[in-house]
Amino acid sequence: MTSATAALGGADVEDRELDSFDLTDPATYQTTDVHAMWRRFRAERPVHRHPATEAGPEFWVLSKYHDIMKVYKDDENFTSERGNLLVTLLHGSDSAAGKMLAVTDGPRHAAIRKLMLKSFSPRALRHISEQVVQRTRTLLRNAVERGEADFARDVAEHIPIATICDLLGVPESDRAFLLSLNKEALSSSSADTSAEDSWLARNEILLYFGELAEERKKNPVDDVISVLATGRIDGEPLDEDEIVLNCYSLIIGGDETSRLSMIGGVQALMRHPEQWNALKRGEVTVESAVEEVLRWTTPGMHFGRRALRDVEVAGQRIAADDIVTLWNTSANRDEDVFDAPGTFDLARTPNKHVSFGYGPHFCLGAFLGRVEINAMLDGLRTVADRIEPNGPVEPVFSNFLSGLESLPVRFEVDRAGLAGWN
Ligand code: HEM
Repeated sequence: MTSATAALGGADVEDRELDSFDLTDPATYQTTDVHAMWRRFRAERPVHRHPATEAGPEFWVLSKYHDIMKVYKDDENFTSERGNLLVTLLHGSDSAAGKMLAVTDGPRHAAIRKLMLKSFSPRALRHISEQVVQRTRTLLRNAVERGEADFARDVAEHIPIATICDLLGVPESDRAFLLSLNKEALSSSSADTSAEDSWLARNEILLYFGELAEERKKNPVDDVISVLATGRIDGEPLDEDEIVLNCYSLIIGGDETSRLSMIGGVQALMRHPEQWNALKRGEVTVESAVEEVLRWTTPGMHFGRRALRDVEVAGQRIAADDIVTLWNTSANRDEDVFDAPGTFDLARTPNKHVSFGYGPHFCLGAFLGRVEINAMLDGLRTVADRIEPNGPVEPVFSNFLSGLESLPVRFEVDRAGLAGWN
C-alpha cells in the first residue's frame, strides 16, 4: 500500500464493519488505509473469521505478532502442505506440496532444506554477495549519473533476479527471458494478467529448469541446480519435480520480495528526509537501516497454514482443516511489540520483525535478501546527495505482495562519493 492510496481510504476505515474488508481482493490494498485497518483488527478482533468470498471459503485472520509467531513455529498443529498463501489455501491444495520447501513439512522438508542450506551460508554466499555489490553499484551509478530514473524498473528490478540466476547458474543469455516469464507468473502487476498466462509462464520456467538440471547432472558445477541435481537424501537422488520446483522456489521466494523491499525503502527515505540524512551522514548503521526497511515494507503481506487438528489460538478454537492466515503487515506494526510502530526509524532497536517468517520455514534467503538491501542502501547513500519523487508511482496489484512496480525519482549526485567508486 502507498500513502497516496492510503489517503483515499483513510477516513472510512474507522466506520466500516470489519467483516466488510475483503482481504482476498487485491483492490482492497489499493483503496484502503491498510495500516489503519490492521490497527482496528488488532484492537477489536485479533482472531477474525473472514467471511467466504468469490475467491473461496471462510478463513481465519491473525493480526497480533505473538499469535502469528505461535502458528509459524507450530508445525505439529499446522501444515504448509495444503498451501502457504491465500491463493493456494483457498483453492484447497498446492501442486508443489511435498516437493517444494515452502509447502513441504516434516522430515522431507528438513532433509531438502539441509541440502540447500549448504549454498545459503554466509560463507558459501561470499562470492555472490560481492557480485550483488558490484551489480548494484553499476546500476546506481548509471541511474544517478542520468539524474533521474524509474528506481523500480531501472535499478531494483535487475538486482534480485540476477542474484538468483548467479546462485542457480543460469546463463546470462537466458536471464531476460526468465525475468519476463516470472513477471507473468507471479507479479500480476496489472489486473489484466490472466490466470492462464500465469500458469503457462510457470510451466515454461519449470521446463527451463528441467533442461538445465539434466545438463548439471552430467556436468555439475558450483551452483544450487548442481546441488539439487546431484544431491542424495537417504542415498536416493531427488526426483525431477523436487529439483525443478526448488530451483523455481528461489525465484518465487527471492525476486519480488527483495525487489519490493528495496523500492519501498527508497520511497520511505524520500518521505522521511531526516532518516535519509541520518543514513547519509552515517548516524545509523546500514545494517540497522536494512532491518527497518524490511519491517516497514513487509513485501509479503501474509502467509498461511491449515490446522491439522482442533487447536486454540488466543482463546479461539480453530477446527481441524481450517485455513489460518498470518498477516506480517500487521505483526510488524503491533504496538505491543514495537515502540511507535508507525514511525520509520532506521535506528530502531530491537527490531524483531517477522518479514522473513519464523520457525521451520524461516526464509532460506534471509541473508541474501539482507545483502541486497544493504548493497542498495549503502550504494545510494554513497553516490546520491538527495533523492526526490519524479512522477506518479504504480502499486502492485496483489493480495500477497505489497509495494510498487514503478517509482520515478530524481537524484542529486554526490560527486565525491561517485569518484570514490572509480
Ligand atoms: C521462505 C520472506 C528473500 C527463498 C520465506 C518466508 C518468508 C519469506 C516470510 C516463510 C514462508 C512461510 O512460512 O510459509 C522473504 C522476504 C525476502 C525474501 C521478505 C526479501 C526481502 C528470499 C530470497 C530467497 C528466498 C532472496 C532465495 C534466493 C525462500 C525459500 C523459502 C522462503 C526457499 C522457503 C523456506 C522453507 O520453507 O523452508 N521467505 N524472503 N527468500 N524464502 Fe524468502
